[in-house]
Amino acid sequence: MLKKLLKKILPSGFRQKMKESVLKRFEVINVTRPYNININKKGRFNGQVVVVTGGSGAIGRAICFRFASEGAKVYVCGRTESKLSAVINEIREAGGSAFPGIIDISNKDSIQHFFDTVIAESGKIDVLVTSAGGSAREKNNNIADQDPDIIKDVIDVNLIGTILCTKYAAKQMMTQNSGKIVTISSSIGTQGKAGYSEYAASKGAVIVFTKSLAMELGKYGINVNCVSPGIVQRDAINFSKLERIKQTNYMNDYGKPEDIANMVAFAASDEASFITGQNFIVDGGRSLGLKGD
Ligand SMILES: NC(=O)c1ccc[n+]([C@@H]2O[C@H](COP(=O)([O-])OP(=O)(O)OC[C@H]3O[C@@H](n4cnc5c(N)ncnc54)[C@H](OP(=O)(O)O)[C@@H]3O)[C@@H](O)[C@H]2O)c1
Repeated sequence: MLKKLLKKILPSGFRQKMKESVLKRFEVINVTRPYNININKKGRFNGQVVVVTGGSGAIGRAICFRFASEGAKVYVCGRTESKLSAVINEIREAGGSAFPGIIDISNKDSIQHFFDTVIAESGKIDVLVTSAGGSAREKNNNIADQDPDIIKDVIDVNLIGTILCTKYAAKQMMTQNSGKIVTISSSIGTQGKAGYSEYAASKGAVIVFTKSLAMELGKYGINVNCVSPGIVQRDAINFSKLERIKQTNYMNDYGKPEDIANMVAFAASDEASFITGQNFIVDGGRSLGLKGD
Protein backbone atom coordinates (compact mmCIF):
# COMPACT_ATOMS: atom_id res chain seq x y z
CA MET A 1 0.00 0.00 0.00
CA LEU A 2 2.74 2.49 1.15
CA LYS A 3 4.97 1.23 -1.65
CA LYS A 4 2.22 1.91 -4.21
CA LEU A 5 1.60 5.39 -2.79
CA LEU A 6 5.33 6.27 -2.86
CA LYS A 7 5.55 5.00 -6.43
CA LYS A 8 2.70 7.31 -7.39
CA ILE A 9 3.92 10.49 -5.71
CA LEU A 10 7.74 10.21 -6.01
CA PRO A 11 9.61 10.49 -9.33
CA SER A 12 11.47 7.30 -10.28
CA GLY A 13 14.98 8.94 -10.16
CA PHE A 14 14.32 10.05 -6.58
CA ARG A 15 13.06 6.59 -5.61
CA GLN A 16 16.20 5.01 -7.04
CA LYS A 17 18.44 7.45 -5.10
CA MET A 18 16.56 6.67 -1.86
CA LYS A 19 16.98 2.94 -2.44
CA GLU A 20 20.72 3.33 -3.05
CA SER A 21 21.19 5.45 0.06
CA VAL A 22 19.37 2.90 2.28
CA LEU A 23 21.35 0.01 0.78
CA LYS A 24 24.64 1.89 1.30
CA ARG A 25 23.96 2.14 5.04
CA PHE A 26 24.04 -1.68 5.21
CA GLU A 27 27.00 -2.11 2.90
CA VAL A 28 29.86 -3.97 4.58
CA ILE A 29 33.35 -2.72 3.80
CA ASN A 30 36.26 -5.11 4.18
CA VAL A 31 39.31 -3.08 5.19
CA THR A 32 41.44 -6.21 5.50
CA ARG A 33 40.73 -7.09 1.88
CA PRO A 34 43.35 -9.04 -0.10
CA TYR A 35 45.98 -6.64 -1.40
CA ASN A 36 47.40 -6.59 -4.87
CA ILE A 37 51.09 -6.98 -4.17
CA ASN A 38 53.70 -6.26 -6.79
CA ILE A 39 56.99 -7.66 -5.61
CA ASN A 40 59.90 -5.36 -6.41
CA LYS A 41 63.15 -7.26 -6.00
CA LYS A 42 65.01 -3.95 -6.27
CA GLY A 43 62.86 -2.30 -3.60
CA ARG A 44 64.05 -0.43 -0.53
CA PHE A 45 64.32 -3.62 1.57
CA ASN A 46 65.79 -5.94 -1.05
CA GLY A 47 67.88 -8.65 0.66
CA GLN A 48 66.90 -7.47 4.14
CA VAL A 49 65.67 -9.72 6.94
CA VAL A 50 62.60 -8.22 8.57
CA VAL A 51 60.84 -9.56 11.68
CA VAL A 52 57.26 -8.43 12.26
CA THR A 53 55.66 -9.51 15.55
CA GLY A 54 51.86 -9.56 15.29
CA GLY A 55 52.37 -10.09 11.55
CA SER A 56 49.13 -12.06 11.30
CA GLY A 57 47.06 -9.18 12.70
CA ALA A 58 45.33 -6.52 10.62
CA ILE A 59 48.10 -3.92 10.90
CA GLY A 60 50.94 -6.46 11.03
CA ARG A 61 49.71 -8.14 7.85
CA ALA A 62 49.79 -4.85 5.94
CA ILE A 63 53.30 -4.22 7.31
CA CYS A 64 54.48 -7.68 6.18
CA PHE A 65 53.02 -7.14 2.70
CA ARG A 66 54.72 -3.77 2.47
CA PHE A 67 58.17 -5.12 3.33
CA ALA A 68 57.74 -8.20 1.12
CA SER A 69 56.60 -6.03 -1.77
CA GLU A 70 59.83 -4.06 -1.48
CA GLY A 71 62.04 -7.14 -1.62
CA ALA A 72 62.49 -8.19 2.04
CA LYS A 73 62.55 -11.68 3.51
CA VAL A 74 59.83 -11.35 6.14
CA TYR A 75 59.31 -13.37 9.32
CA VAL A 76 55.57 -13.17 9.97
CA CYS A 77 55.09 -13.76 13.71
CA GLY A 78 52.15 -14.67 15.92
CA ARG A 79 50.74 -17.44 18.09
CA THR A 80 48.23 -18.95 15.66
CA GLU A 81 49.75 -21.11 12.93
CA SER A 82 46.71 -20.99 10.63
CA LYS A 83 46.66 -17.18 10.66
CA LEU A 84 50.38 -17.04 9.91
CA SER A 85 50.03 -19.52 7.03
CA ALA A 86 47.27 -17.42 5.46
CA VAL A 87 49.49 -14.31 5.33
CA ILE A 88 52.58 -16.26 4.24
CA ASN A 89 50.70 -17.99 1.42
CA GLU A 90 49.36 -14.69 0.12
CA ILE A 91 52.86 -13.21 0.05
CA ARG A 92 54.44 -16.29 -1.51
CA GLU A 93 51.73 -16.55 -4.17
CA ALA A 94 52.66 -13.02 -5.22
CA GLY A 95 56.33 -14.07 -5.49
CA GLY A 96 57.47 -12.61 -2.16
CA SER A 97 59.57 -14.16 0.57
CA ALA A 98 57.85 -14.94 3.90
CA PHE A 99 58.46 -17.37 6.76
CA PRO A 100 56.52 -18.19 9.91
CA GLY A 101 57.58 -17.22 13.42
CA ILE A 102 55.38 -19.05 15.90
CA ILE A 103 55.97 -17.13 19.08
CA ASP A 104 54.13 -16.22 22.27
CA ILE A 105 55.53 -12.88 23.37
CA SER A 106 54.21 -13.32 26.90
CA ASN A 107 56.71 -16.19 27.27
CA LYS A 108 60.40 -15.24 27.50
CA ASP A 109 61.67 -18.68 26.44
CA SER A 110 59.49 -18.64 23.34
CA ILE A 111 60.91 -15.22 22.40
CA GLN A 112 64.54 -16.21 22.91
CA HIS A 113 64.09 -19.48 21.00
CA PHE A 114 62.52 -17.63 18.08
CA PHE A 115 65.28 -15.01 17.77
CA ASP A 116 67.99 -17.71 18.09
CA THR A 117 66.30 -19.56 15.21
CA VAL A 118 66.07 -16.47 12.98
CA ILE A 119 69.74 -15.65 13.52
CA ALA A 120 70.79 -19.28 12.89
CA GLU A 121 68.68 -19.40 9.70
CA SER A 122 69.24 -15.94 8.27
CA GLY A 123 72.43 -14.70 9.92
CA LYS A 124 71.12 -11.18 10.56
CA ILE A 125 68.15 -9.01 11.43
CA ASP A 126 67.84 -5.73 9.53
CA VAL A 127 64.46 -4.60 10.79
CA LEU A 128 62.27 -5.43 13.78
CA VAL A 129 58.67 -4.21 13.95
CA THR A 130 56.83 -4.94 17.21
CA SER A 131 53.16 -4.95 16.24
CA ALA A 132 51.93 -7.80 18.51
CA GLY A 133 49.51 -6.61 21.15
CA GLY A 134 46.24 -4.82 21.69
CA SER A 135 43.86 -3.74 24.41
CA ALA A 136 41.72 -6.14 26.44
CA ARG A 137 38.95 -5.37 23.85
CA GLU A 138 35.54 -6.48 25.17
CA LYS A 139 37.15 -6.93 28.61
CA ASN A 140 38.18 -3.26 28.85
CA ASN A 141 36.87 -1.81 32.10
CA ASN A 142 37.18 1.03 34.58
CA ILE A 143 40.21 0.37 36.77
CA ALA A 144 38.23 -0.23 39.99
CA ASP A 145 36.37 -3.10 38.30
CA GLN A 146 39.19 -4.44 36.16
CA ASP A 147 40.40 -8.00 36.76
CA PRO A 148 44.06 -7.91 37.96
CA ASP A 149 44.92 -10.84 35.66
CA ILE A 150 43.73 -8.87 32.64
CA ILE A 151 45.78 -5.85 33.72
CA LYS A 152 48.85 -8.09 33.94
CA ASP A 153 48.20 -9.73 30.55
CA VAL A 154 47.87 -6.37 28.81
CA ILE A 155 51.13 -5.11 30.31
CA ASP A 156 52.90 -8.45 29.65
CA VAL A 157 52.04 -8.52 25.95
CA ASN A 158 52.19 -4.85 24.98
CA LEU A 159 55.11 -3.78 27.12
CA ILE A 160 57.19 -6.71 28.41
CA GLY A 161 56.76 -8.63 25.14
CA THR A 162 57.86 -5.59 23.14
CA ILE A 163 60.86 -5.01 25.40
CA LEU A 164 62.01 -8.63 25.25
CA CYS A 165 61.66 -8.97 21.46
CA THR A 166 63.58 -5.72 21.09
CA LYS A 167 66.27 -6.93 23.48
CA TYR A 168 67.13 -9.98 21.35
CA ALA A 169 66.91 -8.13 18.03
CA ALA A 170 69.03 -5.24 19.39
CA LYS A 171 71.70 -7.65 20.61
CA GLN A 172 72.05 -9.03 17.08
CA MET A 173 71.90 -5.58 15.44
CA MET A 174 74.70 -4.35 17.74
CA THR A 175 77.00 -7.04 16.32
CA GLN A 176 76.09 -5.85 12.81
CA ASN A 177 76.45 -2.15 13.64
CA SER A 178 73.20 -1.53 11.79
CA GLY A 179 69.47 -2.00 12.12
CA LYS A 180 66.08 -0.35 12.38
CA ILE A 181 63.61 -0.96 15.17
CA VAL A 182 60.03 0.28 14.87
CA THR A 183 57.78 -0.15 17.88
CA ILE A 184 54.01 0.19 17.67
CA SER A 185 52.24 2.21 20.35
CA SER A 186 48.84 3.93 20.03
CA SER A 187 47.50 7.47 20.10
CA ILE A 188 46.04 6.32 23.45
CA GLY A 189 49.67 6.03 24.62
CA THR A 190 49.99 9.82 24.54
CA GLN A 191 46.38 10.92 25.13
CA GLY A 192 45.09 8.24 27.53
CA LYS A 193 41.53 6.92 27.42
CA ALA A 194 39.05 6.25 30.23
CA GLY A 195 38.30 2.56 30.57
CA TYR A 196 41.60 1.65 28.87
CA SER A 197 44.05 2.73 31.57
CA GLU A 198 46.27 -0.38 31.63
CA TYR A 199 46.45 -0.34 27.82
CA ALA A 200 47.26 3.40 27.85
CA ALA A 201 49.98 2.78 30.47
CA SER A 202 51.52 -0.04 28.42
CA LYS A 203 51.51 2.00 25.20
CA GLY A 204 52.80 5.17 26.90
CA ALA A 205 55.65 3.10 28.28
CA VAL A 206 56.43 1.77 24.79
CA ILE A 207 57.00 5.36 23.62
CA VAL A 208 59.45 6.20 26.41
CA PHE A 209 61.13 2.80 25.98
CA THR A 210 61.65 3.72 22.31
CA LYS A 211 63.25 7.06 23.23
CA SER A 212 65.57 5.48 25.81
CA LEU A 213 66.64 2.77 23.41
CA ALA A 214 67.33 5.31 20.67
CA MET A 215 69.79 6.98 23.07
CA GLU A 216 71.39 3.63 23.88
CA LEU A 217 71.67 2.23 20.34
CA GLY A 218 72.48 5.27 18.19
CA LYS A 219 76.20 4.62 18.49
CA TYR A 220 75.72 1.21 16.87
CA GLY A 221 74.03 2.75 13.83
CA ILE A 222 70.62 1.52 14.98
CA ASN A 223 67.56 3.75 14.64
CA VAL A 224 64.65 3.21 17.04
CA ASN A 225 61.32 4.88 16.33
CA CYS A 226 57.71 4.39 17.25
CA VAL A 227 54.52 4.53 15.17
CA SER A 228 51.26 5.26 17.01
CA PRO A 229 48.08 4.40 15.13
CA GLY A 230 44.72 6.03 15.83
CA ILE A 231 41.58 3.98 15.16
CA VAL A 232 42.36 1.37 12.49
CA GLN A 233 39.73 -1.12 11.43
CA ARG A 234 40.54 -4.76 11.97
CA ASP A 235 37.63 -6.50 10.29
CA ALA A 236 34.80 -5.88 7.88
CA ILE A 237 32.68 -2.99 9.12
CA ASN A 238 29.35 -1.54 8.06
CA PHE A 239 29.01 1.80 6.37
CA SER A 240 27.18 3.52 9.27
CA LYS A 241 29.93 2.66 11.73
CA LEU A 242 32.61 3.81 9.30
CA GLU A 243 30.75 7.12 8.87
CA ARG A 244 30.77 7.56 12.67
CA ILE A 245 34.52 6.82 12.80
CA LYS A 246 35.14 9.42 10.09
CA GLN A 247 33.68 12.06 12.43
CA THR A 248 36.43 11.34 14.99
CA ASN A 249 39.29 12.86 12.98
CA TYR A 250 40.17 15.89 10.88
CA MET A 251 40.70 14.06 7.60
CA ASN A 252 37.10 12.73 7.75
CA ASP A 253 38.36 9.29 6.91
CA TYR A 254 39.06 5.99 8.62
CA GLY A 255 42.50 4.53 9.30
CA LYS A 256 43.53 1.66 7.08
CA PRO A 257 46.26 -0.87 7.94
CA GLU A 258 48.24 0.40 4.92
CA ASP A 259 48.35 3.90 6.43
CA ILE A 260 50.32 2.48 9.33
CA ALA A 261 52.43 0.23 7.09
CA ASN A 262 53.46 3.26 4.99
CA MET A 263 54.80 5.06 8.06
CA VAL A 264 56.53 1.94 9.42
CA ALA A 265 58.25 1.31 6.08
CA PHE A 266 59.49 4.90 5.97
CA ALA A 267 60.83 4.67 9.56
CA ALA A 268 62.62 1.42 8.67
CA SER A 269 64.12 2.74 5.43
CA ASP A 270 67.41 4.50 4.74
CA GLU A 271 65.40 7.68 4.14
CA ALA A 272 64.91 7.83 7.91
CA SER A 273 68.53 7.20 8.84
CA PHE A 274 68.87 10.56 10.66
CA ILE A 275 65.63 10.09 12.62
CA THR A 276 65.63 8.32 15.96
CA GLY A 277 63.66 8.25 19.22
CA GLN A 278 60.55 9.75 17.59
CA ASN A 279 56.90 8.86 17.89
CA PHE A 280 54.90 9.23 14.66
CA ILE A 281 51.17 9.50 15.28
CA VAL A 282 49.08 8.29 12.33
CA ASP A 283 45.50 9.11 13.28
CA GLY A 284 44.05 11.60 10.79
CA GLY A 285 44.72 14.35 13.34
CA ARG A 286 42.40 12.85 15.95
CA SER A 287 44.85 13.54 18.80
CA LEU A 288 45.15 17.25 17.88
CA GLY A 289 42.32 18.04 20.25
CA LEU A 290 39.02 19.90 20.10
CA LYS A 291 36.85 19.23 17.09
CA GLY A 292 33.65 21.09 16.38
CA ASP A 293 32.12 24.28 17.87
N1 LIG B 1 43.68 -1.45 15.37
C1 LIG B 1 43.77 -0.30 16.01
O1 LIG B 1 42.83 0.54 15.97
C2 LIG B 1 45.00 0.07 16.77
C3 LIG B 1 45.10 1.38 17.27
C4 LIG B 1 46.23 1.73 17.97
C5 LIG B 1 47.25 0.82 18.18
N2 LIG B 1 47.11 -0.44 17.70
C6 LIG B 1 48.21 -1.37 17.97
O2 LIG B 1 48.65 -1.94 16.75
C7 LIG B 1 49.11 -3.28 16.96
C8 LIG B 1 48.40 -4.20 15.98
O3 LIG B 1 47.01 -4.08 16.17
P1 LIG B 1 45.97 -4.85 15.20
O4 LIG B 1 44.79 -3.98 15.12
O5 LIG B 1 46.65 -5.31 13.96
O6 LIG B 1 45.61 -6.08 16.13
P2 LIG B 1 45.13 -7.57 15.75
O7 LIG B 1 44.55 -7.60 14.38
O8 LIG B 1 44.31 -8.04 16.89
O9 LIG B 1 46.49 -8.38 15.72
C9 LIG B 1 47.22 -8.63 16.89
C10 LIG B 1 48.44 -9.43 16.54
O10 LIG B 1 49.22 -9.63 17.72
C11 LIG B 1 49.46 -11.03 17.89
N3 LIG B 1 49.53 -11.35 19.32
C12 LIG B 1 48.67 -11.00 20.30
N4 LIG B 1 49.08 -11.51 21.48
C13 LIG B 1 50.25 -12.18 21.23
C14 LIG B 1 51.15 -12.92 22.02
N5 LIG B 1 50.97 -13.11 23.33
N6 LIG B 1 52.22 -13.48 21.41
C15 LIG B 1 52.44 -13.32 20.11
N7 LIG B 1 51.62 -12.63 19.28
C16 LIG B 1 50.52 -12.06 19.84
C17 LIG B 1 48.28 -11.71 17.21
O11 LIG B 1 48.61 -13.04 16.88
P3 LIG B 1 47.61 -14.25 17.34
O12 LIG B 1 46.27 -13.90 16.77
O13 LIG B 1 48.20 -15.47 16.78
O14 LIG B 1 47.62 -14.19 18.83
C18 LIG B 1 48.10 -10.82 15.99
O15 LIG B 1 49.04 -11.18 15.01
C19 LIG B 1 48.84 -3.58 18.43
O16 LIG B 1 50.03 -3.39 19.17
C20 LIG B 1 47.80 -2.55 18.84
O17 LIG B 1 47.86 -2.22 20.21
C21 LIG B 1 46.02 -0.85 17.01
